[in-house]
Amino acid sequence: MSRLIIVANRLPVTVRAGEAGPRIEYSPGGLAVGLRGVHRPGESVWIGWPGEIPEGDANARAKLMNEIRGFGCKPVTLTADQVHDFYETVANELLWPVLHSRLDKIPLRLKGWEGFREVSALFARAVVETYRPGDLVWVHDYHLALVPQMVRELLPNARIGFFLHVPFPPEEVFRCIAEREELVTGLMGADLIGFHTPGYAANFQATARSLLRLEGGSAPFAWQGRRVRTGAFPMGVDTAVWTQRGAAAEVREMAATLHATNGCRRLVVGIDRLDYTKGIPRRLLAIEEMFERGLADPGETRMIQVSVPSREAVDAYQEIRRVTDELTGRINGLYSTVDNVPIHSLYRSLAADEVASLYLAADVMLVTPLRDGMNLVAKEFVATRVDGDGVLVLSEFAGAAAELREALLVNPYSTADVAATVARALAMPVHERRWRMERLRMRVGANDVKHWADSFLSELARAEAGYQQEVAALGTG
Ligand code: F6P
Repeated sequence: MSRLIIVANRLPVTVRAGEAGPRIEYSPGGLAVGLRGVHRPGESVWIGWPGEIPEGDANARAKLMNEIRGFGCKPVTLTADQVHDFYETVANELLWPVLHSRLDKIPLRLKGWEGFREVSALFARAVVETYRPGDLVWVHDYHLALVPQMVRELLPNARIGFFLHVPFPPEEVFRCIAEREELVTGLMGADLIGFHTPGYAANFQATARSLLRLEGGSAPFAWQGRRVRTGAFPMGVDTAVWTQRGAAAEVREMAATLHATNGCRRLVVGIDRLDYTKGIPRRLLAIEEMFERGLADPGETRMIQVSVPSREAVDAYQEIRRVTDELTGRINGLYSTVDNVPIHSLYRSLAADEVASLYLAADVMLVTPLRDGMNLVAKEFVATRVDGDGVLVLSEFAGAAAELREALLVNPYSTADVAATVARALAMPVHERRWRMERLRMRVGANDVKHWADSFLSELARAEAGYQQEVAALGTG
């Protein structure tokens, strides 16, 4: 039986160091949550980094590894130095800002490319150890951009897909990376390269054409005796699961409690990984401007901003936390009354039911990234709103904006636009809220995560690699 081999930096579960020793948790973030719905241990194997496995006690390590294997995973363990070079430095201090068009966030000194290559090769080797003829190999995200070509060199006939979960920027931005040819060549090892939007796919095509001097006007590209296709496959969420959560009695009760504790105040909710791409400081400034201009009453409005800790070892993430805390304090200092604090800021991750109760309680959901590959929070919010109410204010620079046209779209760089749009959302009549939400729900329901995975994988299965010959040669096809 042919299987799906998922390869991603994160596994569906991650080991975290805790005071009472290491513990295994479900990994947060769109990629891990989304692919969990696709991964079926037995039919698929998931290769990835298991997190901070403590040095020392060999028995404890072996126990953790076995537990992780129990989730249908093959862990690729990394040393602290490898995590530093691969994940913190190259992936998150270089690739992440460039792919999000934030060249200002690249540190002046950046070393670690050798380590990045070395870890990429470890992932490729893990694929080769797992692979059986006929398997589909699906590599995910920017951390593993070199892996498709490394696997191709070792398994020339494998069907390899790659999906990028973040934006692909315009060519002139991508060109700032010193190792740009190596990265594009790495991706071209795949038979199919998927992006969230047609715009990102077009940016990649233009970049590949010019960096690799490819002939021909449009993809598929002829490359090293193969055809490499590219395409847009907008990722969805597990709509059924979020719908169930939105309908669950406990979640509805939690949402009702949230309303009760907030009195008659209107709730504006933001939930993000704390990342400089998410536009949280500008969002806070927009809320301040809304109060300043008298567009909403700070005594009757409350914003709940949940910022999930992320990549805390990276300087830019420590800086964004500081800025966010300072702004929150300043705005609350200006607009709090004895019985209301307008901005409630939580710096921690929440359980899925708590997230769902916030989605359900929100009068307005604010999703205003400066740049975001897709943004699945926007889709989770819609999927959870089984009551057909609530307004989504969405950045035009999130990939999701291409699909979620009935949201109120904003330019997140314009605090004036966001302030006025949040005020409009707060005042929106119920029939308009329902009309918009109904349409959003239809689209999010039809294009769920299963639809995304099926459409990518069926396209990949058509790949013209020599896998059929390989299978036939073994007499198993
Ligand atoms: O592609 C972006 C992404 O991988 C998302 O899937 C996820 O939300 C986030 O980054 C997770 O970041 P990290 O793995 O660094 O915690």
